[in-house]
Amino acid sequence: MKPLHYVMLAIMLLIGIIVGIDGVNRQQLSVAPRTQGNTDGSTLYVRYCAACHGANLEGQANWQTARLDGSYPAPPHDASGHTWHHPDAYLVAVTLQGGAAITGNPQNAMPGFAQQLTPAQAQAIIDYIKSTWPADIQAQQASLNQ
Ligand code: HEC
Repeated sequence: MKPLHYVMLAIMLLIGIIVGIDGVNRQQLSVAPRTQGNTDGSTLYVRYCAACHGANLEGQANWQTARLDGSYPAPPHDASGHTWHHPDAYLVAVTLQGGAAITGNPQNAMPGFAQQLTPAQAQAIIDYIKSTWPADIQAQQASLNQ
């Protein structure tokens, strides 16, 4: 081979490597988000809910006191809150569609997660929340689901 041929071969190899790496990167980018299909309720809770409802489901400070704009802070999801006063279907609906849509109160600041979560994922989060309650609270809430 003439020296020029070596140079051309080297350039072609280099282009091949670059295109190859680019292809791998594109493949990685098109990989689904981490939570897609994930139905681990506690993982999803940490990712989507804990910022407002608290890492330990404790809610925001003074959650029973309205802010100046009339909205309320996020309530706890532990036994001290009122999440357990509602059946699963209501809790899943609020989670997916948001508080304003379900309660009819435009001041309700609970966002809807229908774009982020499937109904199965929303139910998994509610199941996780329920699993943290004492047995008597679990039983009372379960009776609402009948
Ligand atoms: C940006 C803050 C914020 C995030 C994030 C958030 N919430 Fe809320 N959530 C609220 C607020 C505020 C309320 C209370 C609204 C009201 O009563 O006016 C609420 C209320 C609720 C209620 C109704 C409780 C009841 O007893 O009526 C449920 C259920 C709920 N949230 C579930 C979730 C779940 C599940 C997630 C995660 C997927 C989540 N929330 C993420 C702010 C948030």
